[in-house]
Amino acid sequence: MAVGMAISSADAGDGGGFAFDGKMNKFVILCCIIASTGGLMFGYDIGISGGVTAMDDFLEKFFHSVYLKKHHAHEDNYCKYNNQGLQLFTSSLYLAALVASFFASYVCSKYGRKFTMQVAAFIFLLGVLFNGAAFHVAMLIGGRLLLGCGIGFANQAVPLFLSEIAPVKYRGGLNILFQLMVTIGILIANLVNFFMEKIHPWGWRVSLSLAGVPAMLLLIGSFVIPETPTSLIERGQQNQGLETLRKIRGTENVEKEYQEIVHACEMAHEVKHPFRNLMKRKSRPQLVIAILMQVFQQFTGINAIMFYAPVLFQTIGFHNNASLMSAVITGIVNVVSTIVSIVLVDILGRRMLLLEACAQMFISQLAIGSTLMVHLESTGSLTKITSIAVVCLVCVYVMSFAWSWGPLGWLIPSEIFPVETRTAGYAFAVSSNMLFTFLIAQAFLSMLCSMKAAVFFFFAVWIIIMGLFTIFLLPETKGIPIDEMTDRVWKQHWFWRRFMDHDTPCPSRV
Ligand code: BGC
Repeated sequence: MAVGMAISSADAGDGGGFAFDGKMNKFVILCCIIASTGGLMFGYDIGISGGVTAMDDFLEKFFHSVYLKKHHAHEDNYCKYNNQGLQLFTSSLYLAALVASFFASYVCSKYGRKFTMQVAAFIFLLGVLFNGAAFHVAMLIGGRLLLGCGIGFANQAVPLFLSEIAPVKYRGGLNILFQLMVTIGILIANLVNFFMEKIHPWGWRVSLSLAGVPAMLLLIGSFVIPETPTSLIERGQQNQGLETLRKIRGTENVEKEYQEIVHACEMAHEVKHPFRNLMKRKSRPQLVIAILMQVFQQFTGINAIMFYAPVLFQTIGFHNNASLMSAVITGIVNVVSTIVSIVLVDILGRRMLLLEACAQMFISQLAIGSTLMVHLESTGSLTKITSIAVVCLVCVYVMSFAWSWGPLGWLIPSEIFPVETRTAGYAFAVSSNMLFTFLIAQAFLSMLCSMKAAVFFFFAVWIIIMGLFTIFLLPETKGIPIDEMTDRVWKQHWFWRRFMDHDTPCPSRV
């Protein structure tokens, strides 16, 4: 699969790429900002559904039974939002994205990243139309499915585009730029909900329709950005590829990088079955880690907070407005802490951030669970001081996620595969993310209803497991050239080296 080799221009750089004459220039920055609006689309969706599903006008129109339950005087705090239809509204998007990402991977390699982004924005806009104009629950779910397809396409194309277009030494930072946009999208959605909740009876329509803004930005912007050199060369357009490379690097001196890309594309054409290659024993360590990073990212419980923050805060006794405000506060913490990650990831290393975060998340989850257990009965609400304490604990938790499992869940899978299986492997990471996001979104409100405050202990147990995984099975990849991972990481690792022993070394480029 040709896409499998697509990030090779950038990869080439880590090993010897610092010699490439490419600097950060205004055009590249503009391209990255435009492309990362795909992350904004994703983040806006994550953030918008929780607020909308907490709005009375929305519930009354589409989920009347939830509306009645919510306003029933003696309704159990932990169960008032437990409704499969309501959960399906949130989670259907991820199911669609999971399926769409496989088609997107084909479109991306056959027609390029730029075209894939355009398809993404177009389908997403259709979904926004369905949602904004919805008069029936089927239209709502149909709209969510279209949005999900758009996200599947965007999440496949945008990170690849960023990696290919970025000058080599800024690739890590630009990779986390995607996650930064996700967090900004979540924050904007929380703010929009905060204001729209006050507009009756159609505020929710505005909340859902504004998702069209990042999609329009991506669609219009995609006519400004070029196709990536790798994708052009891969599809036989050598001259255009060379020209684009000169433009994005801001120099005529791109021969060395150009040759690297041509070489990588030639190798890509030799690997006829990257997915079959990925199933071989020697790919086991990377494949297992890429999938587990995403599974664990979701089992931190982050989306229980991100999707359902307003619902969760209402559950623990906040009023509509206060709960949306609290979601805005956690949204700000999320953005700022992601910036911290951009700064620290290449200084402290991946493992240090992940382990520190495990400790911080574990303590905050236990504290949230115990506080709710002691202070929140099935009926009644928290005192003001306890409510503030819970919001603070949620912030401590979100902060640690945002500088660790959030961005690194995407970064690590993108840097551990050898070139011949990289995108095939990355596709597994993306689809695992969507699958487990779906499962958590679908299950959380039911879990909250049946397990009550103990649901936080459930996530805390997972955090112990992921801490142990990090200590024993996750090697440090900071500062290791991407093409030297096999020799310098996998073959040296106490456990994973047994998968490498009898294999020929991975082909390396000069
Ligand atoms: C995760 C999302 C999550 C978001 C929160 C992303 O890395 O994949 O599921 O909602 O971070 O910022």
